[in-house]
Amino acid sequence: MRLSPLLLALASTAVAAQTSQDENVHEYIVVGSGPGGGPLAARLAQAGHSVLLIDAGEDQFNNTNSRIVYNNTLAINDPLTRWDFFVNRDEEEFEREYEFTTWRRPDGEFYVGLDPPEGSERLGVYYPRAATLGGCAMHNAATILLPADVDWNDISEITGDDSWTAANMRKHFVSLERCNYLENGSDPSHGFTGWLDTSQGDASWSLNNSDLTSLAQLTSNLLGGNETAFTLFELLSRDQNANDPERDQEVGVITPHTHSRHGVRSSPLDLIRSTLGDPRNFPLVVQQHTLVTKVLFSDRSSKKNTPRSIGVEYLQGKSLYSADPRYDPDTNGTLGRAYATKEVILAGGVFNTPQILKLSGIGLRSELEYFGIPVVKDLPGVGTRMKDNYDAVLYGTFANPVEGWYDIWYKTAAALRTRDIHFYCGRMNFMGFFPGMPGWNPNEFECGFMQLHPRNINGTVRLRSKDPREVPDIHLGFFKNGNDEDLESILEAINFVRPIFHSLGNNTFTEHRPCAAGVECTDDWQRHYLRAQVYSHHATGTCALGADDDPLAVLQMLDLRLSSRRFGARPLFDVQKQPRRSPVLLP
Ligand SMILES: Cc1cc2nc3c(=O)[nH]c(=O)nc-3n(C[C@H](O)[C@H](O)[C@H](O)COP(=O)(O)OP(=O)(O)OC[C@H]3O[C@@H](n4cnc5c(N)ncnc54)[C@H](O)[C@@H]3O)c2cc1C
Ligand SMILES: *[C@@H]1O[C@H](CO)[C@@H](O)[C@H](O)[C@H]1NC(C)=O
Ligand SMILES: *[C@@H]1O[C@H](CO)[C@@H](O)[C@H](O)[C@H]1NC(C)=O
Ligand SMILES: *[C@@H]1O[C@H](CO)[C@@H](O)[C@H](O)[C@H]1NC(C)=O
Ligand SMILES: *[C@@H]1O[C@H](CO)[C@@H](O)[C@H](O)[C@H]1NC(C)=O
Ligand SMILES: *[C@@H]1O[C@H](CO)[C@@H](O)[C@H](O)[C@H]1NC(C)=O
Ligand SMILES: *[C@@H]1O[C@H](CO)[C@@H](O)[C@H](O)[C@H]1NC(C)=O
Ligand SMILES: *[C@@H]1O[C@H](CO)[C@@H](O)[C@H](O)[C@H]1NC(C)=O
Ligand SMILES: *[C@@H]1O[C@H](CO)[C@@H](O)[C@H](O)[C@H]1NC(C)=O
Repeated sequence: MRLSPLLLALASTAVAAQTSQDENVHEYIVVGSGPGGGPLAARLAQAGHSVLLIDAGEDQFNNTNSRIVYNNTLAINDPLTRWDFFVNRDEEEFEREYEFTTWRRPDGEFYVGLDPPEGSERLGVYYPRAATLGGCAMHNAATILLPADVDWNDISEITGDDSWTAANMRKHFVSLERCNYLENGSDPSHGFTGWLDTSQGDASWSLNNSDLTSLAQLTSNLLGGNETAFTLFELLSRDQNANDPERDQEVGVITPHTHSRHGVRSSPLDLIRSTLGDPRNFPLVVQQHTLVTKVLFSDRSSKKNTPRSIGVEYLQGKSLYSADPRYDPDTNGTLGRAYATKEVILAGGVFNTPQILKLSGIGLRSELEYFGIPVVKDLPGVGTRMKDNYDAVLYGTFANPVEGWYDIWYKTAAALRTRDIHFYCGRMNFMGFFPGMPGWNPNEFECGFMQLHPRNINGTVRLRSKDPREVPDIHLGFFKNGNDEDLESILEAINFVRPIFHSLGNNTFTEHRPCAAGVECTDDWQRHYLRAQVYSHHATGTCALGADDDPLAVLQMLDLRLSSRRFGARPLFDVQKQPRRSPVLLP
């Protein structure tokens, strides 16, 4: 699972005079029920704290699009769960060549392509998110892969806090995992009794089609698999989340792991629901259909004049955010407020958390002043330094369909410290994100991949207006240093898989992307093509945790230490006197 540093714990206090008449008081308010907010809210409630978990979306537990992992393309397109964002990736020169550019036609429908009907409005590059209980974990591919150890250890070094080390994070993984693919209890570095089911795809699926077996075997051989004592099946079946110091350098063929069981998605939604349904009556209130519009701060300044968050303001009602395909500008929702005696925790995802912060007066001063938002804290890092994994694809058709699936770990010459490419190869048509993006088709085959350690993405999330219902202006900031090692690594990955596709003597492969018929497939031509056509879907980092002296850090360990001391020592609001709350799922 990808753990993004999007949790923003704002030290809060309660001002009794302001809240005493208000019923809507909780110890913690968590905004957003995705992987960031959902489990945290559930765990806090299980520990006995009263928690209000707010989400703009609703419980779609019975929706087979999100429930069945295999249906995730349907889930991405589902108007009951999706939020449509349109982003810019790169410089204008490359942006205008993106072949899945999305437009709004004069009749209101989407057009995808480069030749829109007269009068269409250019929306940009489609970037799906899910607004539903469980967040994007309800429409994603459910792949569960631990990050490279160095990623955790870097955070530990930056913050000087060793609770972030990979070794310590492994303990959290063990406590949340319910591993279904190893013998129960057989490996202490895995969990077997947690809330998140993990499974491994059946490697025999990759071996049931002789052509696919040939492709996987050649791939494996090229990456040195034939120099090991393992069979192809054994290589495909390797545990990708093993606690192995060599893991992050290992290359070769694999079968992906998912957070699922028997094809049914396992997610934060399950934990939220089981916490609500638990006979121990945990004090969790889940409020659906609620768009948080800003954080409220105490107007009583402390000695150091540090503003404290005391709650949130929101609009209640369905589909109130304009990214929602059912959005109706004439339905305004009902204004409401909720108060927190301990903390307000923002986990609205990579685009929405910085938007909420800025709407609340926390962000770059000049941007806030431009929109007439009173500045609570001039924090220039909010909504900057956004990073993503670049996606690209080698795609075409085989004369005869090739069934099955395998993934590849690969390390390019430009890799920084660990393997940097994760391919997913199979019979599908996934070349980017656009409304109505298709899923599987016979004869088509691709190796798509993610470049996992990009070095020059510098994205931003900026307000378009102070209207909380309007989506922000999102720039992914790809290739900020131009054509550099990021692009070279993408090109190298494409050039690595191409000859494998052409290795089946009796089943001809016709390449459509990057190099369609008639194209002179030079590296230079491909560089330009790839730069114009790369896409992405793993954005992160818009409210980054940083060192105490980093001016762009949004969350610093200093804040966390202060807030834990503050609450540990002197709760300002006597929660014992609060009425005991029972679990509720509000409509
Ligand atoms: C198409 C796609 C495929 C992916 N595939 C994978 C994968 O296979 N494996 C993997 O590990 N990761 C994958 N990811 C990434 C992963 O899903 C995200 O990193 C993760 O969901 C982020 O969690 P989050 O809690 O930060 O935010 P989100 O999951 O975005 O959740 C945010 C929640 O906050 C709510 N919210 C936002 N704003 C407000 C507001 N103002 N008021 C109230 N509620 C609000 C939203 O409704 C949403 O439910 C994928 C992502 C996408 C988009
Ligand atoms: C899901 O379906 C079951 C059975 O039809 C029903 O009892 C339950 O209320 C539904 N749950 C939700 C969240 O819609
Ligand atoms: C979802 O997946 C199930 C099981 O694979 C399948 O039977 C069903 O048709 C899919 N749902 C839709 C709406 O296609
Ligand atoms: C493993 O065994 C424990 C104890 O019996 C049980 O609670 C748990 O559900 C089992 N896990 C799996 C994945 O079967
Ligand atoms: C592979 O094929 C065998 C024999 O036809 C079949 O029993 C098995 O279920 C197949 N495996 C998968 C994962 O499809
Ligand atoms: C492994 O396969 C590669 C590619 O086919 C080949 O070049 C290499 O010699 C093989 N190595 C062994 C030990 O067979
Ligand atoms: C919704 O709000 C807008 C802007 O404040 C206002 O013009 C409009 O009349 C409101 N609509 C309803 C139905 O209240
Ligand atoms: C990255 O973005 C920041 C502002 O967000 C800007 O100051 C900086 O110059 C950018 N870096 C590059 C390499 O473009
Ligand atoms: C192609 O040849 C291989 C090896 O000779 C054979 O196993 C495979 O079935 C053939 N595929 C097709 C589609 O004829």
